[in-house]
Amino acid sequence: MPGKRSVTEASVKGRRVLVRVDFNVPQHPDGSVADDRRIVEALPTLKHLEAAGAKTILLSHLGRPDGRRDPKFSLRPVVHRLSALLGQPVPLADDIVGIHAIEGVTRLASGGFLMLENLRFHPGEESNDPAFAAQLARLGDLFVEEAFGAVHRAHASTVGVPKRLPSYAGLLVEKEIRALTPLVHGAEKPYVAMMGGAKVADKLPLLASFLGRVDTLLIGGALAFPFLAADGANLGATGVELGLEGVVQEFRDAARSAGTALQFPTDLVYEPADGGDGVVATGTDLPAGAKAFDIGPATRASFLKALAGSKTVFWNGPLGLAEDPRFAAGTREVLAGLAGIPGFHVSAGGDSARVAEALGVGGAFQFVSTGGGAALEFVQGAALPGLVVLPDA
Ligand code: 3PG
Repeated sequence: MPGKRSVTEASVKGRRVLVRVDFNVPQHPDGSVADDRRIVEALPTLKHLEAAGAKTILLSHLGRPDGRRDPKFSLRPVVHRLSALLGQPVPLADDIVGIHAIEGVTRLASGGFLMLENLRFHPGEESNDPAFAAQLARLGDLFVEEAFGAVHRAHASTVGVPKRLPSYAGLLVEKEIRALTPLVHGAEKPYVAMMGGAKVADKLPLLASFLGRVDTLLIGGALAFPFLAADGANLGATGVELGLEGVVQEFRDAARSAGTALQFPTDLVYEPADGGDGVVATGTDLPAGAKAFDIGPATRASFLKALAGSKTVFWNGPLGLAEDPRFAAGTREVLAGLAGIPGFHVSAGGDSARVAEALGVGGAFQFVSTGGGAALEFVQGAALPGLVVLPDA
């Protein structure tokens, strides 16, 4: 995709700059930020605006409060972390387009920051309501898109506002486009995608658009279970998404026609009916009451064999329940092996990056995208509304 007009070209001194960021970050049960990568990745743009004397107004969503104010989804903990990282206090307006936001913007000094409350407290955000978008746009003179993780959403802040203001790409968005574009056109072959995690019904359509683009698709995690079940595996008490038999068969047929090889687990690690340590099953049939939570050693070896011959790798989703040490070996060992394989390796999705870091194998990747769904759609060549709306460089 062509580059986008950069924030570095904008004349921002003394002007009100609306910056859409994706500070939809994982939180601890007390609300504090559990992983600040998305905040840290936006800092170069924020520092640039600070140094250039902009009045920066930050817009973000957090979670899915569905158009209602819910203190559980307040951006307060995020602002707390952001202030520490920026080294200056960032006030949080208690509303989005109301009196607090308007007063906060009026008080903003050049080089200062203001964050508005969670955009998704307003029903107009997700519906891209024109009146809401216009109210938001009135708070700024320019718009900067820095929320790569949200550019696949056609919301008021990602599409409605940039349609109404001179708009620019932030440095993180530029970096993501630069890093991911080679995977869309001309990825070095062999190209292997390795997919895991849960939400099978959500992910299958996305997986389908990898067919024909990648040479091999490795499928692990809960994503593999409907395929194994359709093959007649007895998965005991494992949670398998039901009603996907038809979809799974169509998917296999489509892979065959597209020339993409599919690989599934051939052995599993399960939790026995009475709990306790993980047990390796030599195949994909489990005892009654057992629950599969990881790929087994034979699968790790066959996945690594496929990866060993690759030049490009795209990974999304752990291959097992990696936060449980009993079921982390699959993801850990495959990624540890991947670290020693030359090539361009990209990981997408906050969970994936966090798991890889926690297992000490984050070094397997040359690029870690801040996008989850956005990165998946981008590498499949989809036109993402939040990027389409930005002027080309
Ligand atoms: C993400 O975490 O992928 C983005 O912040 C988008 O969030 P959403 O899936 O709730 O739109």
